[in-house]
Amino acid sequence: MNAGASGNGGGRAAAELHAELGGVTRVYPAVAGYRPVHALGPVDLDLRRGEFFSVVGPSGCGKSTLLEVLAGLQPPSEGKVSFEGKPVHGQVPEGVGVVFQEDASFPWLSVWDNAAFGLRRAGVDSAEIERRVGDALAFMGLKDFQRAYPAQLSGGMRQRVCIARTLVLQPRLILLDEPFGALDAQTRLLMGDEVLRLWRRTGATILLITHALDEAAMLSDRVGVMSARPGRFLDLVETKWPKERDSTIVSEAGFGEVTARLWHHLRGESLKALGQSGAAAAGGRAEA
Ligand SMILES: Nc1ncnc2c1ncn2[C@@H]1O[C@H](COP(=O)(O)OP(=O)(O)O)[C@@H](O)[C@H]1O
Ligand SMILES: [Mg+2]
Repeated sequence: MNAGASGNGGGRAAAELHAELGGVTRVYPAVAGYRPVHALGPVDLDLRRGEFFSVVGPSGCGKSTLLEVLAGLQPPSEGKVSFEGKPVHGQVPEGVGVVFQEDASFPWLSVWDNAAFGLRRAGVDSAEIERRVGDALAFMGLKDFQRAYPAQLSGGMRQRVCIARTLVLQPRLILLDEPFGALDAQTRLLMGDEVLRLWRRTGATILLITHALDEAAMLSDRVGVMSARPGRFLDLVETKWPKERDSTIVSEAGFGEVTARLWHHLRGESLKALGQSGAAAAGGRAEA
């Protein structure tokens, strides 16, 4: 199904298109005795400027593949990818920031130097680096730890370092691939609040990949539900939450309705994905 033309967006037809996938598939080519893997699609996705969009789907359904194709880190096998009206290929476009699934902080750099890394590489002048890094660390609650190294921090704080590192680049589209995957449930909820704060302050469009239904339901304006591999959109749920929201939304009646609708689709797809990983273990490549 087309995640942009599902009828959910009727009243907001004029919303500005920010990034787009059109008929995108991704097939990983066969390597060394392994069969090709049709990981994704075809998918269509219209991201509206400034929205908070989450993608949920069973493990191995192609969520990370979708994010990497949108970020320009992988080529689509078919279809078109664009950001701000320009085609994406071969590299992450200026204006797009990516935060990965694993803790991707550099262990040999201090918190400050981690956050400054991308700006130094881009040759930004030192006064501007000073200003942007100081601001991002303050915003992420890391000011008192700027001289610490990642090993001295908790998992939640390390992930904040990674977010700060992206934030300094002032992205207009932020792609987050299961950024809280390694954190405990309570920390996840609080990190969700941080991401909402970040979203409101920057005005950026956010695409969040998650396997956690409650996280998707709590944070998003819209949630795209993906099928088992090859991932396609099965449903698009518009939450209609107010812009000023936080994790207390989990106690609202509407929250249960949203998560129930997500689970309605995902239960069957997750069972299929479990079956696929059994088959993959027997013959193909193991699931991620
Ligand atoms: N580099 C790769 N080469 C071959 N197959 C891959 C590669 N990366 C991922 N896959 C396969 O593609 C499918 C989708 O992977 P992925 O996008 O990581 O799923 P998800 O993020 O939803 O768990 C999985 O079956 C995975 O094993
Ligand atoms: Mg993934």
